[in-house]
Amino acid sequence: MFQNWEDLKKSCENCQKCELCKTRRNVVVGVGSPDAEVMFIGEGPGENEDLQGEPFVGRAGKLLDKMLTAVDLDRNKNIYIANIVKCRPPQNRDPKPGEQEMCIDWLRNQVKLIRPKIIVCLGRIAAARIIKPDIKITMEHGQFIEKNGVLMMAMLHPAAILRDPRRKPDAFNDFLILREKIKEICDHTY
Ligand code: URA
Repeated sequence: MFQNWEDLKKSCENCQKCELCKTRRNVVVGVGSPDAEVMFIGEGPGENEDLQGEPFVGRAGKLLDKMLTAVDLDRNKNIYIANIVKCRPPQNRDPKPGEQEMCIDWLRNQVKLIRPKIIVCLGRIAAARIIKPDIKITMEHGQFIEKNGVLMMAMLHPAAILRDPRRKPDAFNDFLILREKIKEICDHTY
């Protein structure tokens, strides 16, 4: 376990624990404020993220940023964004359970350093790994559950909203629910 961000980042960027290191162009460690009270967790880098070394910078990321802005959240100010796996799975396939297992300690270390009050899982893969393995995201998105003293919520993945824009109002409502919870339990003025 690393006690500071520089050591964590350096070590993560040199990780060779699984096969994904062979095809990656950049390790996508995460982005945001180390003091964030709210942390977002996605699945894994896609092509744009792999090229730029930052999570959620493609089309889905642009939509995510828009919804974040609408509730006064900003990756450069008051949240932290990371993924379950830090390297792009080829052809954007789902990360394999073994790859997730190899990678999860990086995320654990990130959570330990940030100590967020709220964790939002974007999409089924993240929600299944972090909240509960059999989560039904279409039914359970927008609901908070407490786990290890942290409030956790699953949201639809922004890529799923792009594929089916009819889900947008539902998805946006989750951000409004999140905003209310932040007002209730977070210290920073958002
Ligand atoms: N999808 C994810 O789950 N994470 C990213 O960083 C980009 C797209």
